[in-house]
Amino acid sequence: MDIEEPLIALVYNQEEEIVRGESQDLIALQYTTKTAASVYQALCRLGYSTVMVPVTNDLELFARELSRYSPCNTFVFNICDGFAGDNFSASLIPQVIDRLGFKHTGSCAEAIRLCTDKARAKQRLLQLGVPTPAYQVFTRPCGEITVPFPAIVKPVHEDGSVGIEETSVVTSPNDLFRRVEYVLSEYCQPALVEEYIVGREFAVSMWGNGTMEVMPISEHDFSAVADPLRSFLTYESKWVEDSFTYTSFGVICPARLSLEEEQCIQHTAVRAFQAMGLRDLGRVDIRYRHGIPYVIDINEIPDLSPEAGFARSAEIAGYDYDHMVERILLLAMQREGWG
Ligand SMILES: Nc1ncnc2c1ncn2[C@@H]1O[C@H](COP(=O)(O)OP(=O)(O)O)[C@@H](O)[C@H]1O
Ligand SMILES: [Mg+2]
Repeated sequence: MDIEEPLIALVYNQEEEIVRGESQDLIALQYTTKTAASVYQALCRLGYSTVMVPVTNDLELFARELSRYSPCNTFVFNICDGFAGDNFSASLIPQVIDRLGFKHTGSCAEAIRLCTDKARAKQRLLQLGVPTPAYQVFTRPCGEITVPFPAIVKPVHEDGSVGIEETSVVTSPNDLFRRVEYVLSEYCQPALVEEYIVGREFAVSMWGNGTMEVMPISEHDFSAVADPLRSFLTYESKWVEDSFTYTSFGVICPARLSLEEEQCIQHTAVRAFQAMGLRDLGRVDIRYRHGIPYVIDINEIPDLSPEAGFARSAEIAGYDYDHMVERILLLAMQREGWG
């Protein structure tokens, strides 16, 4: 299909309130609206006619808003990383987009559903032989513990380190069950308990379909903290600007790695991307210990704000912000046979 001047509908979730968890979680939830403004400005600067279509907590309202446009000349740029305060519901948005006949950037509903269920995603990785830390899922704060200590307790369906604090890393059954109880009651979802990997942490951003282009790898720099059991990304370190960890944790990009290490990490990240059936773009988070890259998180809709890791890696790969946004759009259009 060759569409002379496609209209771009930028679809993003606009969150009004938190439905569970801590009140400060709203900072992370509302961040997508800020990112949408940056992506919108980039698309406009690039000369694309663009409309913003926010998704609030009413799916039918969203469907009506999107229906004002025609799937024949409108391509959707989807950056919804949740719906109505719920990360796990992000897959509902591409379902509506598909139902209305629109083509869109990024992964399909099914792949998003898989990635927003960390336990299912890990099960898939293990089936395919991709290294990921040993894990257990708890729906009650009791039972046999098979995961070795130290362990980390996280909500099974969140992202952006929501529900992750320093006390999430535990070294005893008592502390583990206390944290499981917290996740169950505050976040109303099962707790994923994983072996805590003491080691370096990398973020691997990539794009493409079929043959993937892996961008320069970022490393999180935890050197401001001496204790390895505190060297990880809590909610505070990502979102609370005046906190010690927010100001003192840094990023090194490109990460200092030998060629062999770099290839091993890249290879594992691409396998994880493909195992989830992702499209166009993604970011895979890895903890690296004794030469093994453990996949801990697969971000099917990575944060696309200018300050985030994806844009940083793209910039080093030679794409300024506007061209990063355009490349994502063009990859999706090419995949759909547009243009
Ligand atoms: N198994 C693990 N071993 C070591 N650190 C971990 C592990 N799982 C998570 N972390 C730390 O917690 C952070 C957030 O966990 P992650 O699974 O990426 O959740 P989110 O989807 O919220 O980003 C990671 O960036 C990492 O610093
Ligand atoms: Mg992560």
